[in-house]
Formats: sequence, C-alpha cells, structure tokens
Amino acid sequence: MTSAFGDRIMARADALAEFSEYNDKLCRRYLTPEHRAAITVLSEWMESAGMEVHIDAAANCIGRYEAAEPDAPAVLVGSHIDTVRDAGRYDGMLGILCAIECVDALHATNTRLDHAIEVVAFGDEEGVRFKATLLGSSAIAGTFDPDWLQREDEDGITLQAALDAFELDSTDINDARRAAEDVAAFVEVHIEQGPVLENEGLALGVVTAIAGASRFNITVTGEAGHAGTVPMGLRHDALAAGAEMVLEIERLCTELDTVGTVGQIAASPGAVNVINGQCQFSLDIRAGNNAVRQRTVADLWARLQTIAGRRGVKVSIALTHDFDACECDAGLMAQLTEALERGGHPLKQLPSGAGHDAMAMAALTPVAMLFVRCERGISHHPDEHMTAEDAEAATAVLLDFLQHYQPSQA
Ligand code: GLV
Ligand code: MN
Ligand code: MN
Repeated sequence: MTSAFGDRIMARADALAEFSEYNDKLCRRYLTPEHRAAITVLSEWMESAGMEVHIDAAANCIGRYEAAEPDAPAVLVGSHIDTVRDAGRYDGMLGILCAIECVDALHATNTRLDHAIEVVAFGDEEGVRFKATLLGSSAIAGTFDPDWLQREDEDGITLQAALDAFELDSTDINDARRAAEDVAAFVEVHIEQGPVLENEGLALGVVTAIAGASRFNITVTGEAGHAGTVPMGLRHDALAAGAEMVLEIERLCTELDTVGTVGQIAASPGAVNVINGQCQFSLDIRAGNNAVRQRTVADLWARLQTIAGRRGVKVSIALTHDFDACECDAGLMAQLTEALERGGHPLKQLPSGAGHDAMAMAALTPVAMLFVRCERGISHHPDEHMTAEDAEAATAVLLDFLQHYQPSQA
C-alpha cells in the first residue's frame, strides 16, 4: 500500500525518539537540552511544510499556516513533545506529526483555507519534571498558575529558573496566552493508549470526553529507629504505614469503580538496618465523573488518616494537579465523524481515561480528539506501537476534517 503520510510519520517519530536524556531509553522532559533539540528539528519540518514558526513564552513550538485571508482565526492542531520516563515514541508525537503532514499536503498544492492552521508542540503535558502537568497548554489557554513557577525538579531547579535557562523570560509567561477570538478550535490526534480500538478491529475513534484527574504528594512521618533494637510493637515505621495506605488506595478505588495509582514511592533514611522515619508517595486518581473523583479523594483521605492514627504516624497531603473531566465539543465531534465517514471508516466513539492537552485547551476553545489504534493497548512504555497504515488513516481524516471545517454555530 502506498503511504503518503504514514511512512514519514513513523520515520519522524523514530528520529524524535533519538532526543532522549538517556542512551538506552526515551525520556524527554520539559525545558531540557533534548526538548530544545527536538523542537529545533520540528521547526525545520514545520518550515519546510510552509509554516512560520515561533517558540512561545512557555516553550511551546508553534507553526502557523496562514488562511486565504491574513489574520483569520486559527484551528490549532497538535499535541505534546515531552515524554514520561522510558516512554513510547508516539504518545504526543503522533498528534504533532500528523498535523505537520496535513499542512504539508495543503502547502504542496498551494491550498489556503478559510481558517489558519497552527501546529502546536506543547512543551509539557506529562508533568514529569516539575510535578505540574499540562504546563504548555495551560499557558496558551490562560490558566497557568504563577505559583507553578516555584515548583522544583529533582535537582532543585525551579520552573522559573529552567525557563530562564531555556532563554525565555519567566516573567513573560503570560505572553503565551492566546486570545479566544484568535483561536477557532483545538483538535488533537493521539494514540489511544488502551486496547478498545484494537479489540474492535478499528483504526480510529472519536473521543467523547476525557477523564478528570487529581494528583497528590503524600508524606508519612513516623520515627526512624534501629532495626535490631526497637520491638515491632513500639515502631512508628513510616514505610510500613505507607505500604498499608497504598493497599487501601487500591482497595477503595476498586470498590468505587475508579482508578488510583501510586506511581512513585520513596522512604528515608532508606538503609537496610534502619526503620524508615519518612515515606513519600504520589497518588493519581481519575474518573470520568467529577463527583465520583471528589468522593474517592475525600474517602481516601479519611482512610489514610485512620491508618496513620492507628500506627502513630502523621500523614499530610499536597494537591499537585486537579483537572475536571472534559467533554469534547459536540459540533467538532460531528465534523470529525463526518470526516471518518467520508474516509470510509466505521464510526466509533470512546472516552479517554488518559489526560491530554485538549483538557487544558478546553478552557480557551472547543476541543475534539481523534484516537488511533494502539498495539495491545500498551503505552507509557517502550513497547508502545502503532502502524504506518493507521498513521496514514488518521492524517487523511484530520486533513479532510480541516478542509471541511466550519466554525460552530453556537
Ligand atoms: C498523560 O499521559 C496522563 O494521562 O497521565
Ligand atoms: Mn502520556
Ligand atoms: Mn499524551
């Protein structure tokens, strides 16, 4: 099968995967030299597809392809360029690369549309470096919280200092904000990161809504002591208390039919012959329904305090991220569905359990998402895989959507 877009998308995803902080695995965090290297290459690809490129005040890389009339509102398309640790190569990148191909195809035939197109490579979606997520899209949407500038990475570098080191002026971060009248819509193509499309034998699906998420840093403080001398009944072991809390989180989330994950845990002092005095862990709670998420968080907090009280340790909780579930725009979903139909694809709608830039962009503009089949549903993992044929199909649908796009009548 000839592939106008798919093969180049796969080759470019491979090329971007070379920009990693590690030799043996992919990790590209916000505002690192690898982020800079990736957006340098992206800028070249965007320019050769006929776009004017700039890096905004939040280090988002944006390529603009003008409409037939100058200064027309833009449909923004894209996704994130940062990755988790030991990541796959399509999460985020696929949405940027499909969008570049669409503009390239328009440029090749000298076609200008009624709306401008801006391809955006958001600098941070995953939140790996500063434990605050969706930083790039929040800056564009105007919901960037200035307190985030004081968040530190694991080396004690604040976001503010990292922006300055990236040769951006952190005091200008609000300049990344876009005026609502200049942005018509945001559309994100993304690998599904789950098994639904593959199980149904489908390449593509239209996303209905994105689950809300709350994230916390939890600190358990007990009492460090000698592993040989303190009897079991007299211990205030922070790690043992943390372990019980992790299992309680698993139990409650199962009961309430929501999802909760402890992805990071550390204990100190962390020696073989010392009872740990402190334990810190992350908590990520998600649900499609905001009330269910809030109830889960409230119930969990009560249960963690009960465990702490029984074990004679203290527990404190700090909220690091809180995004409500986000409905995709009905008008845009209908237009994406029409593009699927014109492309001869079966119609499929599905919700997203993963978070996406679209949920931050929804504060600015109507949003929609197109999901692409993911092999065995594996993501946030180096085995994440998809096919050139599916990349081709997604790009063709996105291009067709852009060519037929009509602003909402609402
Ligand atoms: C982003 O990938 C998330 O859902 O955590
Ligand atoms: Mn991700
Ligand atoms: Mn992603």
